[in-house]
Amino acid sequence: MNIRTLLDTKISQALSNAGAENAPAVVKASARIEFGDYQANGIMGAAKKLKMNPRDLAAKVLENLDLSDIAEKVEIAGPGFLNIHLKNEWLADKAELALASDLLGMGKTTAPQTVVIDYSAPNLAKEMHVGHLRSTIIGDAMARVLGFIGHKVIRQNHVGDWGTQFGMLLTYMDELGEDSAELSTQLSNLEKFYQAAKVRFDEDEAFAKTARENVVKLQAGDTEFLKLWNQFTETSLQHCDVIYKDLNVLLTRDDVMPESAYNDDLSNVITDLDKQGLLKEDQGAQCVFMDEFKGKDDKITPMIVQKSDGGYLYATTDLAALRYRQDKLSMDRGLYVIDARQSLHLKQVFTAGKKAGFTPENVQLEHMAFGTMMGKDGTPFKTRDGGTVKLIDLLDEAQQRAFDLVTQKKPDLDESSRKSIAKTVGIGAVKYADLSKNRASDYIFNWDSMLSFEGNTAPYLQYAYARIQSIFRKAGVIDSNVSITLIEPAERQLASKLLQLSEAIEIVAKEGTPNLLCNYLFELSGNFMTFYEACPIMKADENVKQSRLKLAQLTANTLRTGLDLLGIDVMERM
Ligand code: ARG
Repeated sequence: MNIRTLLDTKISQALSNAGAENAPAVVKASARIEFGDYQANGIMGAAKKLKMNPRDLAAKVLENLDLSDIAEKVEIAGPGFLNIHLKNEWLADKAELALASDLLGMGKTTAPQTVVIDYSAPNLAKEMHVGHLRSTIIGDAMARVLGFIGHKVIRQNHVGDWGTQFGMLLTYMDELGEDSAELSTQLSNLEKFYQAAKVRFDEDEAFAKTARENVVKLQAGDTEFLKLWNQFTETSLQHCDVIYKDLNVLLTRDDVMPESAYNDDLSNVITDLDKQGLLKEDQGAQCVFMDEFKGKDDKITPMIVQKSDGGYLYATTDLAALRYRQDKLSMDRGLYVIDARQSLHLKQVFTAGKKAGFTPENVQLEHMAFGTMMGKDGTPFKTRDGGTVKLIDLLDEAQQRAFDLVTQKKPDLDESSRKSIAKTVGIGAVKYADLSKNRASDYIFNWDSMLSFEGNTAPYLQYAYARIQSIFRKAGVIDSNVSITLIEPAERQLASKLLQLSEAIEIVAKEGTPNLLCNYLFELSGNFMTFYEACPIMKADENVKQSRLKLAQLTANTLRTGLDLLGIDVMERM
């Protein structure tokens, strides 16, 4: 149990005993050390409900609260806050335990869930572009965090491989000639390939007609077209593999559960919706009308599940996926890391899925929506000539820019070391810049700020880590027999912060907000820098030196673990 939860439990209990039943204690780490390590802010609210003077209630809470084993003092402040100053020895013991454990003193969750995370999910017709970055890395951070605290995470890469665009692509493949050299050359650049096919589709009516017929053939299982389709999707997935590897995300082929996999189940989805009385025909199309989606004009925005020509839609596949995740994966919680612009779609799918009984009522379905990545001018990030930026190009540029920076700072380092640092820094910078922003908002993509060694950036944190490693190179092995003692305020503050990692992780796991973990790591590095300036290590007496080295070690472990949960690597030297 982390400190916040421990205090929360005890203070809530004391509130109850003081007459405020079920009143939340609202415990938070204090922003300023003068206010103690933690603050309880719930008493004012509780007092209001009881029509009591909050300071009187606070006094009663104190009478019912025994924190003598962990706190040095608990004081009433302001209108009725409680400030909790933890005992130095207790903090030191906790830090010692954290240092000795792989989980940094954190317990695994007591309520493990099977969490399905739907993320990345590019459309295979084209190459991955910047629009896929956010889903891929936010989803991946969530997969790491939830796995770390003991949940069973099932990654689902719901790639689009079955849409009408494939008719056009396969027809173009057919035209170039199956197994032809021309085809394989052209397939090496999927983006160009798509454009070339599109040109044929737009300029030639006969081509377009064949393309439409070919989708039907494909979906009916025509072996010839299935073969072409396999070749195409395999090529496209290979592109994704390269990106996933570059980006250092966990996704593998085993996580790919493409739209096409649900094809055979789509007609059952329609039948089952009908059985539940949820289906209604509207202008020839099969729709689900739900009161939840009534607009201002009292008209319901329907969810279309089958077109008048019999074709199925994005929503139909998502409903089939919901059912699969329930029946085959036994999901307790489903996270959909998808662009905010798909919010209506997901709300409709979730609502219909529950109504139809595909997903039981107690299963949590959450759209972890994210905003758009913007260019400097505040419009969606584009190439100079207004095209979509391929993700691979963006990642190459990140590494190139980082390489230039490293070369500037360390011109004497051999090239391969500079390259490897550049990779870790460049990719880390892109990921961190994204993860550290509020997920729901749009954000402006800016090379200079993300690659800066100052501020809340990956290079700053990676550098803080490398700097601690350089201390150990000088100091040698730590004497584990000497225990941590906290005397200086900066030591205490660092220890207190170090023990808050699990509190940050707890919120991230619940709300899908990796930016809170970023903030935590950034603040921790700040605390470390303050400690490092105020508390000399090498010149201190042996016991003090060993204690400080241990704090430095725990800081390094915490930074490494925290960054790893974000999918960002550290280096021993940089
Ligand atoms: N392929 C879709 C797109 O590019 C995203 C799929 C997200 N996942 C889902 N279950 N709908 O917009």
